[in-house]
Amino acid sequence: MSDWSAGYVSDIEYLPGFYREQGPAHLTLSCLINGIAPPSTANGFDYCELGCGHGTTVALFAAANPQGRFHAVDFHPAHIARARDAAEAAGLTNISFHEASFAEMAEGEGPDLPEFDFVTLHGVYSWVSPMNRGAIARFLAKKLKPGGLVYVSYNAMPGWAPMMPLQRLLYEYSGLVHQRSDVQVKAGLDFAEQLYKAGAKILGDEAMFGKLRGETKAKNSTEQSVYLAHEYLNGSWQPLYHVDVARELGEAKLTYAGSATLFENYPDLSLTPDQRAALDSIGVPSLRETFKDYCVGRPFRRDVFVRGARRISVAKRDAMLRDMAMAMIIPRADARTTIQVPLGEATLEAKHYEPIFDALAEGPRRIGDLMELPEIRRAGGNLSAVEIAGMLTGSSQAIPVPNPPETVTPLPGVLAHNRAAANELATSEGRKSTALAASIGGAGLHVSTMEALLYDGLGEGVPETLDALVAHAMRRLDAPENADDASRKAIADSMGWCMANSLPVWRKLGMIG
Ligand SMILES: C[S@@+](CC[C@H](N)C(=O)[O-])C[C@H]1O[C@@H](n2cnc3c(N)ncnc32)[C@H](O)[C@@H]1O
Repeated sequence: MSDWSAGYVSDIEYLPGFYREQGPAHLTLSCLINGIAPPSTANGFDYCELGCGHGTTVALFAAANPQGRFHAVDFHPAHIARARDAAEAAGLTNISFHEASFAEMAEGEGPDLPEFDFVTLHGVYSWVSPMNRGAIARFLAKKLKPGGLVYVSYNAMPGWAPMMPLQRLLYEYSGLVHQRSDVQVKAGLDFAEQLYKAGAKILGDEAMFGKLRGETKAKNSTEQSVYLAHEYLNGSWQPLYHVDVARELGEAKLTYAGSATLFENYPDLSLTPDQRAALDSIGVPSLRETFKDYCVGRPFRRDVFVRGARRISVAKRDAMLRDMAMAMIIPRADARTTIQVPLGEATLEAKHYEPIFDALAEGPRRIGDLMELPEIRRAGGNLSAVEIAGMLTGSSQAIPVPNPPETVTPLPGVLAHNRAAANELATSEGRKSTALAASIGGAGLHVSTMEALLYDGLGEGVPETLDALVAHAMRRLDAPENADDASRKAIADSMGWCMANSLPVWRKLGMIG
């Protein structure tokens, strides 16, 4: 491990990834659900990502929020070089990537930066040393505006406790293997599995090994090893209790505002009545939140902190939410009223949500307008703006649109970003997904390789017919001219599905010209 990385895995680059919870609109909604005033975003805002990796997330937000000014920082030169190249290919002019360490940023030795409305860190805080966490807090103390928000995700205790023995084994074993980190972690996993099969009592179970080894839907096997190396082999990695994070960030005058995992903000979706009653007796918010983790058992937290929590009345909060729009991000046929929440499965009232899905399938609508739909008025009941916003966004069926425009017009920056991102995936070896930006809501959506091939083909002027797009996909995939009927049919079925389902959604969100 090199000296400059202070024990952080730096011999291999991290993976690109898009995390929608870091978006300004999503963070704005997290605050409103919890009755806290968010920063205003309509007329411009300043946003910073710390530990940005390849910059995939922040670049998408820059494309989708032309009124925002974006900065992103990472100490790995390969990450910053890659991020700059991608931003240039997408023609982004409202983002700068900086190669700097958290310590340099805290001491003012890094780039000259403005004060920020939003600072986000994903997959960083529990992976770096206490000294670096202190540097992050000092940077926030200096550079977050009053009223500004911080998104910080981390591996959380006690939910992570069952996996800690395995992490320790992988970390110690890697010292015996003088190779690259991804090779070390694979060797460590082989050894751990050998011990498990030999009857070791505390190394998890079959399902855990399957999950660690298995290629997930989003990663191929090389990416999985890179992910595991960054997850398990960092010298200072340590899952954290919420109360400790709240104390550390309290030094920067930050107060916990709520969770960016939206369902966790609704007590009746996260805790049983008995658990709620027990936790009600705990008067210290950071301890109540920590003890909640003992009930929920979540191994990963996405916390939103605010510098100066401005509480707003329920009436004002509801008025702000009614003025916000929702934009559906899935085909109407996939909309569902049965959703997964921390307590298990929950069911949304069909009499309310089916008419809402019908209306949103036509295009984005203000929440206030959804509440006034004739079917909903006839159905009666106590549907609230905070429920609609949280349930639709939390179940990944819609995105919030804080400043809805009259009509959705594709933004030039969004189109340029999407063409570059789709082309990058369509021509990459083995990667399985990327994300495309929307011209509404300042956010984006994950897309599969076939969806990227569709986008790429249309961007290149391929006619919008199944035959032409399948031929384009086969060229990009280097499929042989004489590919058998079964391969051709598999590509055609998948492309046909994307044309019928994804394309209409992209058009409604202004993702494609
Ligand atoms: C697990 S990766 C997460 C990357 C990205 N946020 C994501 O989720 O895709 C952590 C990132 O933090 C960066 N990093 C680690 N320690 C750092 C430090 N002391 N200063 C600046 N960047 C650091 C790493 O280079 C890496 O890109």
